[in-house]
Amino acid sequence: MKLIVTDRDGREHILEALEGWRVMEVIRDWGVPMKAECGGSGICGTCHVHVDPDWVGHLHDPNDDELDQLDQLADADETSRLSCQILMSDELDGLRVKLGAEAADSDEAKAA
Ligand code: FES
Repeated sequence: MKLIVTDRDGREHILEALEGWRVMEVIRDWGVPMKAECGGSGICGTCHVHVDPDWVGHLHDPNDDELDQLDQLADADETSRLSCQILMSDELDGLRVKLGAEAADSDEAKAA
């Protein structure tokens, strides 16, 4: 299944994903720069993505902890999610997300 990611430079990456993997893990495993500092614990906000509006309704609702974390992000809007809290599944084949400002890893971006 595919995950389509737009990075902070506006480049689109079409990534092969496996069922049950976190969106954050897929992005990092394919080398798209993303901080994801807490490693998926849902407490750092640096895996922030904006979900394509056409896909927002396909995702499960964020829980209170995720909403609290998103509330603290300057770049968050109604399409925002923590990518470590989204698990890939057949229903999400073709999911499109764009990295949020907090996810930018400037050092890796320069090296890429
Ligand atoms: S990796 Fe830290 S909140 Fe997702």
